Amino acid sequence: MIRILIITDVHYASEAERSRGDYESRTVSNPWLRFLLKQYRNFLWRRDTFGSNHYCDRFISRAGDADWVIGNGDYCCDSGFIGVADDPSMSSAQACLGKLQHAFGDKFIGMMGDHDLGKKSMFGGFGGMRLKSWERCTGRLGLKAFFRLDIEQHVLIGMNSTLIGLPEFVPDCPPEEYETWNALREKHLDTLRDAFASIGRKQRIILFLHDPTAIPYLANIPWVRSKLCQIDATIIGHLHSPLIMQMSRLLAGMPKIQGMGHTALKMSTALQKAREWKPFNVKLVPAPGGIEVWKKGGFGELILSSSDTSSGIHFQIKSLVSAR
Ligand SMILES: [Fe+2]
Ligand SMILES: [Fe+2]
Repeated sequence: MIRILIITDVHYASEAERSRGDYESRTVSNPWLRFLLKQYRNFLWRRDTFGSNHYCDRFISRAGDADWVIGNGDYCCDSGFIGVADDPSMSSAQACLGKLQHAFGDKFIGMMGDHDLGKKSMFGGFGGMRLKSWERCTGRLGLKAFFRLDIEQHVLIGMNSTLIGLPEFVPDCPPEEYETWNALREKHLDTLRDAFASIGRKQRIILFLHDPTAIPYLANIPWVRSKLCQIDATIIGHLHSPLIMQMSRLLAGMPKIQGMGHTALKMSTALQKAREWKPFNVKLVPAPGGIEVWKKGGFGELILSSSDTSSGIHFQIKSLVSAR
């Protein structure tokens, strides 16, 4: 039996990020949108954006024996909106990853989230992806775009959702950087194609990616489609709560929301394609503290066992919220 833990969306806040205070409202000049943003933060998403640091320690203390620990991205708060190219956000990611790497050593594999690479502010349109963030993620932070673990009949493949879903991120990407991002995407797809090609017919596949926006892109790749029936699970983060996951499923096929800012357009575009998630057996790992309206968060536990009669995987969410 192999025990794999998944922690995602910690959104750790360094002192330098915390000192920015109400950083997001300041990017919105329209008072109506500022009001909307406040309601969204206070009642749906997360009132205290900087209040999740303790979950990192709590996860480490409750992890117990694990064969592998996967970090599925979003280690900082991205209060500069350019990912870890921003020094205060880099300090957050270093603090969070430093704790995880110290606790789990070589058993820890860190993947990247969209906020680690940079993301435009919700209504203000500030910031976006930065190649400097990519360089810091893959360099000093030791994060990976790809990993593969072969464990008995299972093949675990980690991939980068931002690169796979890059066409969706065009508005986040500075025009002068797009060519380089696209070259990174092509290289990443080559790596994934080679990995998929070497998966045997009897092997079972488990995918790890941060943002499900990438899934419809995967669904359209022939060498992924040919292996769909072997995919037992696709483990994602990014949505922070099963409530958002359920909403995503309910809203699949919804029309695009125009005129409410870049994020609303991007989210509604992603939801239009959410029907294509089904054959991927998507399993969400929530943020450790959940969201304001649904505080059930935690971390994922994936147990792999060798079994001829079933897929041999057991996945559950372990709470980090209840005890203090
Ligand atoms: Fe996140
Ligand atoms: Fe994310």
